[in-house]
Parts: sequence; C-alpha cells; structure tokens
Amino acid sequence: MSQSPASNERFNILFESVRLGPVVAPNRFYQVPHCTGMGYNLPNTLAAMRGVKAEGGWGVVNTEYCSIHPTSDDMPFPHCSLWDKNDIKRMALITNQVHFHGSLAGVELWHGGMRSSNLNTRKIPIGPVSLPTSNEPFQCQAMDRQDIKNFRQWHRKAARRAKEAGFDIVYVYATHTYLLDQFLDPAVNTRNDEYGGKEENRHRLIREILEETAEEVGSTCAIAVRIAVEDSHTKKGASNSLLQSLAHYCDLFDVTIPNYEIEMGVSRHVNEGALEPAIKHVRELTKKPVVSVGRFTSPETMLSQVRRGILDFVGAARPSIADPFLPNKIRDGNFDDIRECIGCNICYSGDGKSVPIRCTQNPTMGEEWRRGWHPENIPVAQQTSEILVVGGGPAGLEASATLVRRGHRVILAEATSALGGRVKLESTLPGLSEWIRVRDHRTQLLSQHHLASIHLKSLMTVSDIIETGCKHVILATGSKWRTDGRGRNSPAVVDGIGDALVLTPDKLMAGTRADANHYLIYDDDNYYIGSAVAILLAKEAYKVTYVTPDSIVSSWSRYTTEQWAVQAELIDLGVEIVTEQYLLKVQEKSAVLSCIYTDRRTEIPYECLVPVTSREPVDSLWHELNSDSEHYDTILRIGDCRAPGIIAGAIYDGHKAGREFGMLGHSLIPKRDVIEANDLN
Ligand SMILES: Cc1cc2nc3c(=O)[nH]c(=O)nc-3n(C[C@H](O)[C@H](O)[C@H](O)COP(=O)(O)O)c2cc1C
Ligand code: SF4
Repeated sequence: MSQSPASNERFNILFESVRLGPVVAPNRFYQVPHCTGMGYNLPNTLAAMRGVKAEGGWGVVNTEYCSIHPTSDDMPFPHCSLWDKNDIKRMALITNQVHFHGSLAGVELWHGGMRSSNLNTRKIPIGPVSLPTSNEPFQCQAMDRQDIKNFRQWHRKAARRAKEAGFDIVYVYATHTYLLDQFLDPAVNTRNDEYGGKEENRHRLIREILEETAEEVGSTCAIAVRIAVEDSHTKKGASNSLLQSLAHYCDLFDVTIPNYEIEMGVSRHVNEGALEPAIKHVRELTKKPVVSVGRFTSPETMLSQVRRGILDFVGAARPSIADPFLPNKIRDGNFDDIRECIGCNICYSGDGKSVPIRCTQNPTMGEEWRRGWHPENIPVAQQTSEILVVGGGPAGLEASATLVRRGHRVILAEATSALGGRVKLESTLPGLSEWIRVRDHRTQLLSQHHLASIHLKSLMTVSDIIETGCKHVILATGSKWRTDGRGRNSPAVVDGIGDALVLTPDKLMAGTRADANHYLIYDDDNYYIGSAVAILLAKEAYKVTYVTPDSIVSSWSRYTTEQWAVQAELIDLGVEIVTEQYLLKVQEKSAVLSCIYTDRRTEIPYECLVPVTSREPVDSLWHELNSDSEHYDTILRIGDCRAPGIIAGAIYDGHKAGREFGMLGHSLIPKRDVIEANDLN
C-alpha cells in the first residue's frame, strides 16, 4: 500500500504514520472491529474481505470479536476464535492478507461472560455474578477465584496465539456489556470479594488483564483497550480516573460510549460524528493515541477531528464496509467516487441472521472470496454489446453502472422525470434522507461515463424496445405496494378492502393525501416502511393507528438495531399501536381485527387504510417481451420486478446481472469455504 501524501495536501495529515508502542500504523485510517457473519466457519471468506480493506488503504484492519475460550461462544452468531492451533492457522490467513498490503492487523480478544450462552460448546456460562444469559432460559455460574484465575490464563494464552498468528495489535475488550464490562459495571458486579463492590475492586480484573497481555505480547504487539467512556447521565462507562490508570499499560484507546444504539446508530436517528462530545477529552486525559467512530464518510469531518486533536485515528466500521477503498479515494482526490454508507445497518443483520455480511451500498461485501468480486475492479468483457436497461431504480442503476465499467454500452430508460425509483421516494420519509446516496453514487458514475446514455420520461413499450434495435434487454421496472391487503399473514385478498378508501405507501411517499383525518396503517411487512409512513403522517398531525399481527412495531428492524427507537418514536408521536391482530375485514368506516391467538374480533374506526403488506412486481413488460422472445438475445428481469425485497437485494441483483452478463451458461456457482477439523480439548 503506497503511503504517498494525498493529492490534495490538506489531507496529508490523514496519511501520516502513527507509532503504537512497538508497531507503526502506516496512516490514520483504522477499521475498528466489526463482525461479519463469517467468523471461524468461513476463514477464507473472512480473510479475503479483510485483505480488500487493507488494499483499499485502511492502515489498520481489525477482526471481529474473537473468542479466547469455548466458555465464550456466541453461536448462532458467528465470531472468530483463538482457542487452539487450528485457529492460529485460520487467523493467520487474515494477517497474511492484511500484511500483504502493508497494513497492521488487529485482533479483538473477547470473552462474553454472562452474555455468552455457549449453545454450541455447551460450556456453563460464567460471569461476575449469577444472572440470566442473553435470550436463553438459564443463568451463568458466578465466577469463583479459580474461575477468575482461569480466565486470566485463557486471555494470556489467546494473546500468545494472536502473536503467533501474526497480529500487530491485540485488544483488551472492555465494553459492549461483555465480561470485562460486567466486572466494571456496579449494577452487575455486586461481588463482595476483591473483584467486586468498590471501584478499586471492580477495576482490578481489567488492570490485571491489561498488565498480563502487555507482559505476554507487549514487546511485539501494540495493546489496545476498547472501552466506553462514562455517560454523565447514566454514570455507565469508564470514569476519567479509570482511563488515566489504564493509560500506563496500553498503546491505544479505542473509545466508544455505553449506548450501542447511538454508537452504531442508524442515519434515521444518529448523525455523522455523534460521539465527539462524549469522547473528546480522552486524548488530552490519557496522552495516548485515540481512535473512535462516528460513521465518518465525509473527508472534511475526518480531517477536522484529527486536526482539532479529538482523534489520532479515524475509526470506521460501516464506512469501510460501504467503501473498502475510501482511504485511497481520499488520497487520490477521488472524493466523488466515495460510496458513502447510508446508515441502514443491513450490514449488522448478517450476524443476527448467522449469514455472511451484506451491504446496501457495496454489493461485493462478503463476496470477495466466494465469487471473486472486487469492489473497484470489474473484469472487462471480452465481447462488448449494447444493452437496454429499462428502469432507473436501484437495480437498474447498479446493473447499468456495472455494465459500463465492463465496457458495454448502456441505454438506460426511465419512465419518470428523475432517476432513483424507490430510493427517490423512500428517502423522502422522515429520517431516511441519506438513503438517496444509493442513487447519487450511481448516477454520478453514469452521468460521466461515455458508454452510458440516460433517457428520462421514457416509458417503454414493446414497440419502443424493438425500435431501439437492442438485442439485450434488462428489465428493472420495480414493484408497487399492493392495495388488496395480501401478504405474509393473509395470502388472500382481505375481505371488503375493495370498497375502502386506500392509499398505498407509494402514493403517500409521492405526496398524495386522502380526504381523511384518521389513517389506519396495517403493517404485515414488519420492516421500516410501515413505521416510517406512520411517523410521516403523525408528524403531519393526522390521527394514526398502527396495526400489526406481530407483537412489536417493525419487528424485523431489531436486526438493524433500530426497533426500540422506532417504537419509542411512535409512542412519543401519539400513534395508537395495536399488536397481535390480523386485518380480517374492511368496512367503509371501520376495520375488523382478529386476535392472532384467540380469533377474538374487535372493530376499530378509520377513514383511510394504508396496507403495508406486500408488493406486486411490475413485470408486464417482461411477460410481453417473453411472448415474442425471438427478437432478443437476452431478456432479463432484475431487482424488485423479479422478486420485491430490500434495497440491498435489488443492488446485489443488479450488480450480479452486470457482472455476469455475457457469461450466462458458465458455471457461476459460488465457492464453498472449507472448515478444518477442530481439536477442542
Ligand atoms: C456489522 C457490524 C458488526 C460489528 N461487530 C462488532 C464487533 O464484533 N466488536 C466490536 O467491538 N464492535 C462491533 N461493531 C461496532 C463497530 O466497531 C463500531 O463501533 C460501530 O459500528 C460504529 O462505528 P461506525 O459508525 O464506523 O460504523 C460492529 C458494527 C457493525 C456495523
Ligand atoms: S449496510 Fe448500510 S449501514 Fe451498513 S455499511 Fe452498508 S450502507 Fe452502511
């Protein structure tokens, strides 16, 4: 990795090297630990992804949480491990990839304590006291003195293995409510021995662990502490005196706050750089290098935080996922090419769903090894063609952008007067304005590309398509929210709905309002649209009733960490929330609901119904083309007109279509990662 100063010298400071104890980071771009849904199960997949980050200019690339011992097992949520020799081999795949590009590799040694239910290893969970483990109907064992000694040994040995695997930075992980944090927290740690009770005792374990880690690997590896600073209201987190006392043993503070919903907040609720007021004192206080986070996508914000002495390193998880080449783009002055994170947290859902990470903005994330996809380099097509892409939403834009990068000529026809499709509409919803970056990144590329020609207000018919003479047609015509209430829980049309006053989310997002004061939103989709539309209408002072067969508002959004904040927002806005009820029947002024458990009926009044249940693919053109297919060499449908889904799905489908165009018929089955036999003794 070249560390030449930035093409715009104002940014040179971001490309300075920084000493961290015995090692030197080549620049100030620091990929903080983030999980990937890969963990120890997918070692090659994981290593390739981290390698691409290093190639893109991240001077430090960290692992995700990495278990030090089988008593810290988070399955079914994938994580790394350093339990034995096999793990050393697996983790060395990462360090090799990262070192190849001249970056430092860091490992976040992790023990979950009472948060680890150990469902896979079936070890008895341990913690400072006996309290329930996460999400399971059992408690952990309170650690006795021997357990604490054991834990210290496990950490020491894992640090030794980390060094053997080639890591340059070894973490002591003391936040996010895991074991060391549990010992620090007075509410949890009510022990009455030398490890509990008063502050000095609660701090003992982290000091010992730090000291021992430094003793074990400190001459070759930098020691980083990940810790949350004290929140002045809740008093949770590390006090100034604790931070000062730890400074002696560590080479770097990686500081966060004791509120994960803000630390990793969605753009719906949290802005860029939100942690600054809470963490700005740490550097001055400790005199040690500091890294922190804040969904930094703006080079100016990064520069400002470093110049003002808030941070030594620009920490990033999501910005490095959305654009692994962000540092190099800043270095080269290619600011317009930065693929900015939109703050949707789809990346986080991978771990919760136990599948490899995915990203709305970066379709190559997680596919670096399996499919050999690179975020910046796309192999040029051996034979180029002219392709008509119909529809300028996320799938159509991504397919077009990918095709022109491969050397194909693209005619992009969009029916409306602006590009963006669903993101153009959805980004008008309260809090979702940053989502327009999905469109802007791609239109930026296409509008400058000599192989792309964009035609707005071009509603295409079959004869229009024939007139273009294009033999290859890709349809990305999107989908529309259904008006008939059909969805997950009611596959049939809802009784009586045809007589009701109905407005779809599409209409509401386009600005249409009914002659009504009371809206009933029926959310059988359970992601963000139902609640976002409820918030939109409530903010316009309409009476809003939100009904769902689920037991909470926007239940799927717990995978993106926003569910609590969304439900709180609805409550604060006075939205009436009715849960665990199906929409059984619709009458002119009232709706009949049925309890999902008892079938007991209730009738509630409304004036306008908004069914958020499922979407109808807009695929009539695809059917028409197929009925006369001999005119064409390719007729492909992609994105929501093929199968309506999340924006990340449409981008992925569009990207895949662009990558694989002209290669159909070849074997495109993704590689499967190998797991070596593990010796767990
Ligand atoms: C997908 C994902 C997984 C994460 N996993 C971890 C983890 O394993 N360990 C950890 O300390 N923090 C983890 N985090 C938190 C990040 O390190 C970081 O603090 C947070 O995302 C805010 O930084 P950002 O705004 O740059 O994304 C994760 C974040 C994301 C987005
Ligand atoms: S999935 Fe969304 S939040 Fe995560 S990195 Fe990509 S754009 Fe950002």
